[in-house]
Amino acid sequence: MRNNSLSILAFFLIILSSFLVEIHGNKQSEALGKLYNAKFRGNSGIDVSLFNGVNPVSESRIHPQDGLKEQDRIVKLPGQPNAQFSQYGGYVTVDKSAGRAFYYYFAEADHYSQSKESLPLLLWLNGGPGCSSLGYGAFQELGPFRVYSDGKSLYRNRFSWNYAANVLFLESPAGVGFSYSNTTSDYGKNGDQRTAEDNYVFLLNWLERFPEYKGRDFYIAGESYAGHYVPQLAHTILSHNKIANKTLINLKGILIGNAVINDETDTLGMYDYMGSHAIISYEAAQKIRENCDFSPNATAQSEACNSVGDQVNKALSYINIYDIYAPSCFSTSTTAKPKRASLVDFDPCSDYYVYAYLNRPEVHEAMHANVTKLDHDWEPCSEVITNWSDSPSTIIPLLKEFMANGLRVWIFSGDTDGRVPITSTEYSIAKMNLDIKTEWHPWYLKREVGGYTQVYKGDLTLATVRGAGHQVPSYQPLRALSLIKHFLDGTSLPDTTRYS
Ligand SMILES: *[C@@H]1O[C@H](CO)[C@@H](O)[C@H](O)[C@H]1NC(C)=O
Ligand SMILES: *[C@@H]1O[C@H](CO)[C@@H](O)[C@H](O)[C@H]1NC(C)=O
Ligand SMILES: *[C@@H]1O[C@H](CO)[C@@H](O)[C@H](O)[C@H]1NC(C)=O
Ligand SMILES: *[C@@H]1O[C@H](CO)[C@@H](O)[C@H](O)[C@H]1NC(C)=O
Ligand SMILES: *[C@@H]1O[C@H](CO)[C@@H](O)[C@H](O)[C@H]1NC(C)=O
Repeated sequence: MRNNSLSILAFFLIILSSFLVEIHGNKQSEALGKLYNAKFRGNSGIDVSLFNGVNPVSESRIHPQDGLKEQDRIVKLPGQPNAQFSQYGGYVTVDKSAGRAFYYYFAEADHYSQSKESLPLLLWLNGGPGCSSLGYGAFQELGPFRVYSDGKSLYRNRFSWNYAANVLFLESPAGVGFSYSNTTSDYGKNGDQRTAEDNYVFLLNWLERFPEYKGRDFYIAGESYAGHYVPQLAHTILSHNKIANKTLINLKGILIGNAVINDETDTLGMYDYMGSHAIISYEAAQKIRENCDFSPNATAQSEACNSVGDQVNKALSYINIYDIYAPSCFSTSTTAKPKRASLVDFDPCSDYYVYAYLNRPEVHEAMHANVTKLDHDWEPCSEVITNWSDSPSTIIPLLKEFMANGLRVWIFSGDTDGRVPITSTEYSIAKMNLDIKTEWHPWYLKREVGGYTQVYKGDLTLATVRGAGHQVPSYQPLRALSLIKHFLDGTSLPDTTRYS
């Protein structure tokens, strides 16, 4: 028994060790690697059974929010260029007795032709578990501003998703970024279940603070481990609407990218992608296929499986598995003067600029963050969350539930991500046994192929984004903006007959 569990650990350490070589400046994958090392160890104590929903949330967790919205208004972020739209940031208490509060940043829509009132509300969640939607989503991916290399000043992201929606970024669960608990033992009690519940309580209270968004069309999007958070929150919303027999939150659809969906196919797909993209040898990929067992019941791996470990480890150590063709970050310090920045050539050291920015006291003050003077730094991925209690081996039943309930379900994939690659996503969707409605075809943007798409009966859309890594809007911001616009409009991605 003991040896067996050690051998499965050895195999998954292959993945983890590459993330510890922090030349890439990206911690999101490291967090995912850690969880999966623990999960596949079998004796980790992590509950992998299906997500059954959360207990009905009592009214007593909803508190009056009068006046708090105006207090949360962000007049201007330090180093920010002029902008037209309103921004808010602040805390929402999700558990009064524990003293647990979540930090949010809200960028209202900046749109030439449509008003913010006519545009939907979109919640964005990053994964990890433990990674920050401010650090990735807001300041490196789809938010209105990006941070210059000086770690002090900002430039406008002209492909920001707040051109298509009112975008809410949430740091969750407690222990992520600026979100905290005064009962610090909470940091050891996080898991999928508690995250879903707290996210839901956050939303109910946030809507009290911003009542004009009650009843607004609402969508949830996210990437990576948010492949769990997004469906679990969506399920929680649907089940509470059902219990209340009314639409408490007007959820219309979900969008998940390079998403953790189904452990077995996700893992197999990752190695197959490495094998088919010249990262590991054909023989190593075959050996993994034939000798490794990634099913939820696996308790040990064979010697033959483990023997591939060294090769995989070496192969991954010096590339950014999140974007296999990306350059590496060689200097982790900020620069005295901002370097010329480009939205189309993503700077691989961006994590460090954002870290510097979000740890500045004047930024905290402007954003109404860290008001309780936490005893740890803001981190892109939490260093205070120590345990993860539950993480279902699959979220496929939830996706099926949404399809049956008429929610819009889109799954996208940046096709140069090697961590949760397109191969994993295709294998996971294949597990769902869906019939095809619209056959695989390229979709276009500005007369170029933006990616490929296939629509399944039911309705579920799969869309790839060509040339994008794990954080799709970082690498292909224009294609990502086109994708979100089509998703929110409910229009299919353009094929050759609508070549635009
Ligand atoms: C946490 O404790 C601080 C200091 O006592 C207090 O100001 C803050 O309101 C508490 N947070 C919550 C969510 O209760
Ligand atoms: C993590 O979980 C283990 C086992 O459930 C428990 O013994 C330990 O105290 C937890 N750690 C923290 C920091 O809560
Ligand atoms: C649910 O609400 C509808 C009207 O909105 C009503 O007709 C129906 O009887 C209600 N169902 C229950 C179980 O209360
Ligand atoms: C895994 O275990 C569950 C119950 O523990 C069982 O229902 C299932 O058939 C098993 N799957 C495989 C692939 O053996
Ligand atoms: C909060 O502020 C304290 C004191 O200034 C600082 O030491 C800590 O790093 C900050 N933490 C976060 C999460 O911003």
